[in-house]
Amino acid sequence: MRSDWTDLPPEVLGAIKAHTGPIRRVEPALAGNHADIAATVHGAGGRMFVKAARKVAPNKDGAEVRSLRWEAAINPHVSEYAPCLHWTVEAGGWLALGFEHVQARHSDYTPGSADLDALAKVIDGLQSHPLPDVLERKRVERRWEFLADVSPLAGNTLLHADLNPANVLLGDASAVYVVDWTFAGRGAPFLEMALLLPWLLKAGHTFAEAERWVSRFPAWTSADPAAVDLFARVFADKWQANIVTNTADWALEHAAAAQRWAMYRRGRH
Ligand SMILES: Nc1ncnc2c1ncn2[C@@H]1O[C@H](COP(=O)(O)OP(=O)(O)O)[C@@H](O)[C@H]1O
Ligand SMILES: [Mg+2]
Repeated sequence: MRSDWTDLPPEVLGAIKAHTGPIRRVEPALAGNHADIAATVHGAGGRMFVKAARKVAPNKDGAEVRSLRWEAAINPHVSEYAPCLHWTVEAGGWLALGFEHVQARHSDYTPGSADLDALAKVIDGLQSHPLPDVLERKRVERRWEFLADVSPLAGNTLLHADLNPANVLLGDASAVYVVDWTFAGRGAPFLEMALLLPWLLKAGHTFAEAERWVSRFPAWTSADPAAVDLFARVFADKWQANIVTNTADWALEHAAAAQRWAMYRRGRH
């Protein structure tokens, strides 16, 4: 859930202003919903993109703060894609990160969109990117291990793991930025495509079209179909569990797409 910029206590606001100078205007980001605050801040020296989260207690990080800490830790290791993290402040029970602001739009994943080519390049690049040491202990498949033996989903490939269209930003002169590295970790290489699949479905691809599109990646075609089936099943089950508490429209749609994909995979055998 987003908070409002005015919820920031004076201590953290002061620490932010030490970097931005006097703040003239703040525009909350429309997309996304993880960080408590995500906003473009117009300061004396120009624009910055600020993400901030509140601790659950003075010395206790909550899930949002932990996510931002991961994002800060990985940022210098993926500088080819991620807008640069310029500063971090921790004050008044908040953690705030100040990123380079990029002038870019969300990508469009509808069938036939040219943005899908930009996405494919990002995925190709990530798949061959060295795994940053900081992600050594961050195993993406952990999210589903309460549901099944997920060892077939383990691996050493760097995964962004949330390449939704609002996290892949396209700027001028074919500039591509990937934001929101909260879920990044390591795992089996096909997981990047598997996690993307529901977004392709939501953008209007049929199952067959979506699977055909991801078949351009060697990681997908060489994946054990049983591992993909396993993923589709645990992913759908986790989403069913999620929507008990998260009833936002996007979550219900995502859960439904996951469920349909799991059924589609089951029906193929
Ligand atoms: N560095 C940036 N410059 C400009 N806009 C950004 C930047 N980072 C993120 N955004 C915009 O803000 C939105 C939310 O940011 P994101 O990092 O995805 O946070 P969340 O965790 O809330 O999804 C993105 O979808 C994008 O539109
Ligand atoms: Mg996002």
